[in-house]
Amino acid sequence: PCETHYDDLGRITVGGVALADIADQYGTPVYVLDESEVRRRCRAYRKYFPDAEIVYAAKALLTKSVAGWVAEEGLSVDVCSAGELVVALAAGVDPARIVLHGSGKPFAELEAAVHAGVGRIVIDSLTEITLLAAVATRPQQVLLRLSPDIDVHGHPAVKTGVADQKFGFPLGSAAALDAIDRVMRQPMLDLVGLHCHLGSQIHDPDFYGEAVRRLIAEMSRIRTEYGRTLPQLDLGGGHAVAYRCGDAEMNLPELADILEDALDAACALNHFPRLRISLEPGRAIVAHAGVTLYRVMAIKHVEGGRTFVIADGGMNDNPRVALYGARYDAVVANRHPTGPHLTATVAGRYCEAGDILAADVRLPADLRPGEVLAVPCTGAYHHSLASTYNGVGRPPIISVRNGRCHERIRRETPADLLARDLG
Ligand code: LLP
Repeated sequence: PCETHYDDLGRITVGGVALADIADQYGTPVYVLDESEVRRRCRAYRKYFPDAEIVYAAKALLTKSVAGWVAEEGLSVDVCSAGELVVALAAGVDPARIVLHGSGKPFAELEAAVHAGVGRIVIDSLTEITLLAAVATRPQQVLLRLSPDIDVHGHPAVKTGVADQKFGFPLGSAAALDAIDRVMRQPMLDLVGLHCHLGSQIHDPDFYGEAVRRLIAEMSRIRTEYGRTLPQLDLGGGHAVAYRCGDAEMNLPELADILEDALDAACALNHFPRLRISLEPGRAIVAHAGVTLYRVMAIKHVEGGRTFVIADGGMNDNPRVALYGARYDAVVANRHPTGPHLTATVAGRYCEAGDILAADVRLPADLRPGEVLAVPCTGAYHHSLASTYNGVGRPPIISVRNGRCHERIRRETPADLLARDLG
């Protein structure tokens, strides 16, 4: 978010395209996605974790083009519904490189996944073991999701590694032992490893080292009990990104070192062979590649209160502020601001007081309605979490690369909304 490029007219550019031109051509609000940045992030993961499988968590942002880029960069894809599965397949992702997640996978979705030949399914409940065994017509590779009881101190809405939450089975619990036992007794289920996902926006790589230690100890116990050496360990995603200039983010080389050391130590301690690690970054692949553009609709100076800049988008295209108290920057994109600033709160257009995009940001004092605002770091969990509240359709996604734009997702129109209403 600190790196800003300007053209000769002082306008912000991304991927060689002036954001103001995108706003003019495609309207606002609009999601802009920098293809090169997505590819750069994929390459960084491949570089720092050369022996690991990198699985892109598609819930962060999934379009056919995004799935295609990450697959081209050598990543696998994690999907968590039949809807995400069809997009990944439509993008040409090899089904063998798709991992299916979900805490309540419907029977029909398990059938669709098995029918498509997805590589691995991550088992999340006892019911799923029975359903999947009934659906599988040939041995299906599965992972079992365990929660290793590691508290990463994140927002409660995204804390998944602790014991008392809905995902998987608490490591070492009677339920976990039962689940392992049941999977082992199903001839059509081929248990190839364990999975955990600690949470989101995790800055401290040590949590992952701790997960490695706990899960390899469990794999060693499984080997002793069943005589099976599981070859895979999936450590989930959750690597933090810097939403605002100056925020910290997960240091990938440091994470790589810590994982390497933890693997060495845990494998030595348990006399366990080196196994393949999978990582499932979602946000860290796409967050920085996205910037959302808005037009200023109104400016209000509340006497004795705040200055509000009202944008033509808001919580529909970015619900993360309302959901998680997320903080964003906002900058004027159609000119290089010079002169005095004011501190303002950028609010959305929707009918809720909590519809805020960026609180207490510095904007030019002479900002006018009609100017273009850019909110950086909106590539992950923005389009995928977007809603049509107040009857406003979701924005388009325009990708940029080498000075060219591609419309990847078109704007949702009132006609789209009406088409679903059967009267
Ligand atoms: N793997 C699994 C099994 C997951 O459940 C998730 C995210 C990921 C990987 C990717 O996590 P990431 O690297 O993107 O943090 N809507 C929230 C985030 C929810 C994440 C849910 N699971 C947000 O906007 O912060």
